Amino acid sequence: MNQAEKERAEKLGKKWTPKGYIKKEIEAIRQQVGDKKVLLAMSGGVDSSVCAVLLHKAIGKQLTCVFVDHGCMRKNEAKEVKQVFKGKFGINLIQIDAEKRFLDKAKGITDPELKRKCIGAEFIRVFEEEAKKLGKIEFLGQGTIYPDIVESGVGGHKAVKAHHNVGGLPKDIGFEGLVEPVKYLYKDEVRKVGRALGIPAKMVERQPFPGPGLAVRCLGELTKEKLDILREADFIFRDEMAKAKLDKKAQQFFAIMTNVKSVGVKNGARTFGYVIAIRAVSTSQFVKAGIVELPFKFVTAVAEKIATKVKGVNRVVWDITPKPPATIEWE
Ligand code: XMP
Repeated sequence: MNQAEKERAEKLGKKWTPKGYIKKEIEAIRQQVGDKKVLLAMSGGVDSSVCAVLLHKAIGKQLTCVFVDHGCMRKNEAKEVKQVFKGKFGINLIQIDAEKRFLDKAKGITDPELKRKCIGAEFIRVFEEEAKKLGKIEFLGQGTIYPDIVESGVGGHKAVKAHHNVGGLPKDIGFEGLVEPVKYLYKDEVRKVGRALGIPAKMVERQPFPGPGLAVRCLGELTKEKLDILREADFIFRDEMAKAKLDKKAQQFFAIMTNVKSVGVKNGARTFGYVIAIRAVSTSQFVKAGIVELPFKFVTAVAEKIATKVKGVNRVVWDITPKPPATIEWE
């Protein structure tokens, strides 16, 4: 057992239950934070959501959550986060609509790595500005989970990738320390804790969504037009997957804006529209991924629906490439 594994075993104890974990963690947060304040960047994802509710239960109004909408969120995402975390739980949540700012910064950038860097850097800038406005906040909350630690090569593990949650936000904002209440949990355990905390199933069971959001699913330059088209197509695909009860079969399923235009015909007239791709993968650890065999009838119906309903799209293709050699995201 290496150091990280020992810490995990110690923290969880032998008979692990979500309720027991919540109780212990609330106590631990109170011990660590005292009467000081915590700032948490919320993404709407499972990890930061569970982290937010745990922190809120422990320290209430001493917690401020910041949700930065970088314009690459999925349809209705910002609205749903507000409804659940501000509405249902009463969490002190600040939402920043920074779509224009991010898209202005990303203008003209087509290289995937540069797009990622641009979004990451702008995210930090927006977050820093917000943190400054809030005055002195001693702690930074983070939804780091156990695989993040493992993949980042901490605690005797070999580094796989520099994860966004580990050392992602700048230390020079001046925090005294980090509060990471789900740090020793695997994803399925985070979900169990989330359910026990009363977070709606829709949020707890959400598929993983990358930090840069739709930016890694929108090829070429990021524009509002392309992102809006992608949001609509993605919404239809995910909605149809849920309606057909196929959503439990895939760990990730989404649409991609390919940035390719082709000729089509709508209402008897020639169109020149975007090609949207759809992808559904099954994977246990996201290092390898297989293709989910969606019923062919279902796929053709979805393709037709997207190409008919979404303005600017006239063709849909199905990505049937496993990982490797492809990655899950197109970028
Ligand atoms: P790839 O595309 O490398 O993706 O096969 C593997 C898994 O990682 C997710 N992913 C990210 N998750 N921040 C995240 O939190 C990111 O920047 C990021 N990029 C990719 C991807 O969705 C898949 O689950």
